Amino acid sequence: MHYFITGTAGFIGFHLARRLLQDGHRVTGFDGLTPYYNVKLKHMRHAALAQFPSFTPAIAMLEDREKLEAAIAEAQPDVLIHLAAQAGVRYSIENPRSDISSNVDGSWNILEFAERYKVKHLMLASTSSIYGSNPDVPFRETDRADEPLTIYAATKKSMELMAHSYSHLYKLPITAFRFFTVYGPWGRPDMALFKFVKNMLEDQPIEIYGEGKMSRDFTYIDDLVESIVRLSAVIPSEENRVAGDKVETLSHQAPFRVVNIGGGQPVSLMDFVETVERALGQSAKRTMLPMQKGDVPRTFASPDLLLALTGYKPETTLDEGVKAFIEWYLEARADMEIPA
Ligand SMILES: NC(=O)c1ccc[n+]([C@@H]2O[C@H](COP(=O)([O-])OP(=O)(O)OC[C@H]3O[C@@H](n4cnc5c(N)ncnc54)[C@H](O)[C@@H]3O)[C@@H](O)[C@H]2O)c1
Repeated sequence: MHYFITGTAGFIGFHLARRLLQDGHRVTGFDGLTPYYNVKLKHMRHAALAQFPSFTPAIAMLEDREKLEAAIAEAQPDVLIHLAAQAGVRYSIENPRSDISSNVDGSWNILEFAERYKVKHLMLASTSSIYGSNPDVPFRETDRADEPLTIYAATKKSMELMAHSYSHLYKLPITAFRFFTVYGPWGRPDMALFKFVKNMLEDQPIEIYGEGKMSRDFTYIDDLVESIVRLSAVIPSEENRVAGDKVETLSHQAPFRVVNIGGGQPVSLMDFVETVERALGQSAKRTMLPMQKGDVPRTFASPDLLLALTGYKPETTLDEGVKAFIEWYLEARADMEIPA
């Protein structure tokens, strides 16, 4: 199979592309190498993918319609997995234009070309942030999710809505997955695990927001990739409609479905800090701070639909996942030009 993946120099896209290449597929990896964080790390990821002869990189922005179309036309992919985005809840408060541009304009371009080049399955990365501060947990895909707290969440919800209309108009099969705090080796420098480990190793304090009372449903990267690989074979259609009105989101108007990818095992921020402390064998200097604007108090996935569709749900423990991240970080930090 030929997969066209956007965001392959990013954390999740890199892991997904590597897994598919290892499985013997062809992958075209599209990424604009944006300077949102350490571009060195993005180059390292693409260099690792370039070891596979069946990997073709395409470096351009989603907003560059000519280059995006040329790359998709050249690849003629079976499946298109759209992960490239301006990520980061907090960044979107300071730089909303970046989210609108990448996540709304860029995603619309993807919809246009996925339809024009008749991909068999379009998959889109959405986020648990769109559940906002819903008090009812676990978050189910059938819950109302129309009170976003940030522009980031609003752009992802907009992408889901635009996608539904394309799916209806052009019978384009689309799965939109909602990710829950993904972590692991090659992870993002703007996320808590990377910052905590870096600061602790440099004997700097770590910043703990919301007085440590927030909780997150962490998803280990390999579990996320396994879920996506399995879902890529479940092309939304009436044949695979799951019974039960509490879980299924297959539209009655279109081959369109939303699926949470999360294990349903939320961890409090303080337990998370203690897990990192155990793995590093040292305690952290803690700076306790109030909740930041736009942060949600908790995320908690219902994995029921994912399980029904794929027979699988994320299971890696936080202890195992954090250890794997630290092993990678210690090896990679010199290449990322982070002093030891
Ligand atoms: N990591 C998480 O916990 C998490 C949680 C929820 C949703 N997501 C979503 O998953 C997807 C992947 O996230 P990630 O953690 O790998 O992020 P990432 O920032 O590591 O990767 C995104 C990649 O997209 C590229 N990119 C950004 N804007 C672009 C544009 N306009 N044109 C071309 N390339 C562009 C960047 O260069 C980067 O390499 C994103 O859509 C993100 O919103 C991630």
